[in-house]
Amino acid sequence: MTPFPLFDGPVLGIETSCDETSAAVLDGLNVRSNVVSSQVDLHRRWGGIVPEAASRAHVEALLPVVHQALGEAGMVLSEVRGIAVTSRPGLVGALSVGVSAAKGFALALGVPMIGVHHLEGHLLSPFLDQPDLTFPHICLLASGGHTEVVLLRGLGDYGLLGQTRDDAAGEAFDKSARLLGLGYPGGPAIQKAAETGEPKAYKLPRGLHGEATLDFSFSGLKTAVLRLVEREGAALDVPSAAASVQEAIAHVLVQRSVEACRQAGCDVLTLAGGVAANMRLRSLATETCHREGIRFASPRGSLCTDNAAMIALAGSARLARGDKSGFDLEPIASATL
Ligand code: KG4
Ligand code: ZN
Repeated sequence: MTPFPLFDGPVLGIETSCDETSAAVLDGLNVRSNVVSSQVDLHRRWGGIVPEAASRAHVEALLPVVHQALGEAGMVLSEVRGIAVTSRPGLVGALSVGVSAAKGFALALGVPMIGVHHLEGHLLSPFLDQPDLTFPHICLLASGGHTEVVLLRGLGDYGLLGQTRDDAAGEAFDKSARLLGLGYPGGPAIQKAAETGEPKAYKLPRGLHGEATLDFSFSGLKTAVLRLVEREGAALDVPSAAASVQEAIAHVLVQRSVEACRQAGCDVLTLAGGVAANMRLRSLATETCHREGIRFASPRGSLCTDNAAMIALAGSARLARGDKSGFDLEPIASATL
């Protein structure tokens, strides 16, 4: 049981804020389906996300993805009782595709619809695999656009304890991977390359290390990787460089999160967002939390990266407490929680 009520009946979740088109069916806490169609192959040739191309790809993929999500859940559309859609923040063109579809479904079915904040989806995602989590707890949210340490006091009651002053952790992975010639998206590429590398091979900066802050800084790391590549040239041991980058990022993320737990007097830490899928980050967090007497919880990797199940969960919680969006729901590019 979650420490907040959930909507009664199946909720269809829709996520199109960035480069994944996703639809999921959630019934209570049961993820009946969670289909993700990734655009990485499309954006790889540019080395990053092209907004216009992303919107078009969502238009193409969304209804087939919804169809597949219903099929995998063993349901027909008319059995859906509520609609949850990411409405903020994100690429406006990309968000519009999901929001428009959600309105169409809600109108046709005569069921309530709710616009969800993408980051609330990430923050609540650990509940999908750990229903006995309680409030308050600390969540490290690390994705392509965000790196934040958040105190969750209750549903909708979130306090920001620390954040990045420049690049997000996922951006640090992506930019470092590009400099190392490892391709896009960088996080999984670095994790793969690091498997055969030596994490102590290269000394890389751990932004704001030793400072009394819960903030992060990753821009120095990016510069250091650039210098390393220039200095070593063909002699660069790429797997070891990747392992060293991964170690630097994982180390600072875990150190700040555990420090946040200590300061807030919380003995529960969760990890969410695409970077939380990183195996080294997860093992380091597991070890450190074990040593510090902190319970550690992170959902399986497919619920860390962008997905509609987490959007359905946040929507279900909001619908259950009576929140509801009107047909004037608008996509919003940037929005704080
Ligand atoms: O949460 P997410 O899927 O999308 C955003 O909302 O940003 O996060 C994407 C980010 C990318 O920067 C990607 O490189 C990173 O998460 N990422 C990883 C891994 N899988 C995805 N970073 C490190 N290790 C991974 N295994
Ligand atoms: Zn995300």
